[in-house]
Amino acid sequence: MKVLVVGSGGREHTLAWKLKQSPQVEEVYCAPGNAGTALLGKNVPLKDTDIAGLADFVRSAEIGLTMVGPEAPLVAGIVEEFRGQGLRVVGPTKGAAQLEGSKVFTKRFLKRHNIPTAEFEVFDDAAKAETALRSGQFAFPTVVKADGLAAGKGVIISQNLDEALAAISMIMRDRKFGESGNRVLIEEFLRGEEASFMVLTDGENILPMVPSQDHKAIFDGDKGPNTGGMGAYSVDSLLTPDLRQKILDDIIRPTVDGMAEQGSPFEGVLYAGLMLTDQGPQVLEYNVRFGDPETQAVLPRLKSDLLEAFAAVADGDVSGCELDWTTDAAVCVVVASGGYPGAYEKDKEITGISMAEDDSDTIVFHAGSKLVEGRVLTSGGRVLGVTSLASSLESAIIRTYEAVNKVHFEGMYYRRDIAAKGLRKMGIG
Ligand code: AMP
Ligand code: GLY
Repeated sequence: MKVLVVGSGGREHTLAWKLKQSPQVEEVYCAPGNAGTALLGKNVPLKDTDIAGLADFVRSAEIGLTMVGPEAPLVAGIVEEFRGQGLRVVGPTKGAAQLEGSKVFTKRFLKRHNIPTAEFEVFDDAAKAETALRSGQFAFPTVVKADGLAAGKGVIISQNLDEALAAISMIMRDRKFGESGNRVLIEEFLRGEEASFMVLTDGENILPMVPSQDHKAIFDGDKGPNTGGMGAYSVDSLLTPDLRQKILDDIIRPTVDGMAEQGSPFEGVLYAGLMLTDQGPQVLEYNVRFGDPETQAVLPRLKSDLLEAFAAVADGDVSGCELDWTTDAAVCVVVASGGYPGAYEKDKEITGISMAEDDSDTIVFHAGSKLVEGRVLTSGGRVLGVTSLASSLESAIIRTYEAVNKVHFEGMYYRRDIAAKGLRKMGIG
C-alpha cells in the first residue's frame, strides 16, 4: 500500500519512518515533507492545508491511507473532506478537533464532565480581563492563554499584575496571534511535573501509548521563552501503573465518551498534556494529533505495525489491535537554528548525520531541513531531532548526546539537559 503523511516536521519524519517499517507499506509520501522524508520516500510539494490539492493527489497516486500530522488541516476539516471523497484518513473531524482548536471549548467540556483541570475564566473583552486582573481576583503566578491556535506560543505565565496586563495587551489588543486573540482564558497556575500521554482511539476503544515528557522552554533548566519543544524522553517510570490507570479512568475515558455523547466522536490520536499535581493528574491541554517532539521519543519504542493500527483507526474499529512497546528508554534532543524561537538564519549545510546514525540505536529525525542537489540544508527553527534508545534512561541520555555531538551546522543550538528531570525523579543525577 502507498501511504501519505501530511506535514513537514520531525513528527512527520518519525511517522513516515515507522510506517515504512510495515511490510504492507510499499511507498511513503510526505506533503510537503523535509530532507528526511525525501531520503526515506517521496515528497509531494503541497502545503499541509491545501486540502483540495492533497485529496486530488491521493486519488491520482492511489494512496491507500493518509495520516495527518499537524493540527491546522484537522481544524480546517481535512478529515470530512477526505471521507466525503471516500478516502481513508486518520484523524479527528473538525468538530472533534475543537479539543485543540479552542481552549475555551476544551475547558468548558472538561468542567462539564468533571475532568480535573485548572480553574479558569473566559474573557472576550480586553478591558474586562484587565479589570478582573486589577481587582485581585487571580492569584499570581497566573496563566493567560489565547483561545485559538498559536503554535504553542499563546500561553503566558505571568508572575505579577504588570506581566498579566502585558499578556492581555499582546494577545487581545496587538493581536500577536491574530484571531486567536478574540478571547482569552485566565487560569489558575498548577504546580507539578508535566507529562504527555497519547492514545489512539476509534471514538470508543482506546489504545494507550507510552508516556513522555516534553521540554518546552528554549534554555536549560526550563528557562526562557517557550518553543514548539526542545526535546523529549519516554520511559515507563514516568508514570506509576496506578497513575497511568487513573489518567485512563479519570481523564481519557470520560473525554472519549463525552465527545461521542455530544455527537463528535474523537477518532485519531488524542494527546493529553498533563500536570501531575499533588492532587492528582490535571489536564493542561488537549492536542488532537501526535506531539512534536514526543513522537520522536515514543514511536521508536513501538514494536507493533503502525500501519495496522492506523488502518484500524481509519476503518473505525481498533478493538482487535494492540500496541506492543519495548521497555527501553528513548531520548530525543532537538537541534535548532541559533536564535530560535526568535529570528534565525537558514540554508546552513548540515553534516554528520550518517555518522550519528552509525549507532544502530540512534535515529536522526529531520524537521526544518531540505534536500538541495544532494546536500541537506537547514530551513527552519527546529532542524533535527536526534533520538537514541537504551535499556536505561541514563544510557539513553549519554548515547543521544554522543550522537548530537557528531552533527554540525553553523549556529546550531540544543539544550544540554534533556531528560535530566527524569533522572532526578529516579533519584539519579
Ligand atoms: P498549553 O498550550 O495550554 O499546554 O500550555 C503550554 C505550557 O504552558 C504547558 O505545557 C505548561 O508548561 C504551561 N501551562 C499551561 N497552563 C498552565 C497552568 N494552568 N499552570 C501551570 N502551567 C501551565
Ligand atoms: N510538544 C508539544 C506539542 O506537540 O504540542
